[in-house]
Amino acid sequence: MIPPDAPELNINQIEAGTFSDFPKGSSKIIRMGRIPVIVLRKKNGDFKALEATCTHLDCTVQFKTDTEQIWCACHNGFYDVEGRNISGPPPRPLGQFNVTLKDDKVIITKQELA
Ligand code: FES
Repeated sequence: MIPPDAPELNINQIEAGTFSDFPKGSSKIIRMGRIPVIVLRKKNGDFKALEATCTHLDCTVQFKTDTEQIWCACHNGFYDVEGRNISGPPPRPLGQFNVTLKDDKVIITKQELA
């Protein structure tokens, strides 16, 4: 049996939304092919995009606006807003993506392509 073509699995760039979709302190999880990506806007207005899969046991992480940290509810793992693992069981930082603002659009790109 031959699996169907799935060109969306090789996506290297995706539009996360418009600038106004991301007020300061907000976040959104999108998918780049099979990879969930958390796109967030810090309180200072900067954007960040990180792989949303925890490096411990693959749960989906979330952004805690109040402390500007990334949290994994499965085993209480924490990452800083740059994706560095700072407490709990996660053994590695989260993968990084590039964020580009083009016109009014927030564009997420795999880092090796930027
Ligand atoms: S899966 Fe995230 S802390 Fe365990």
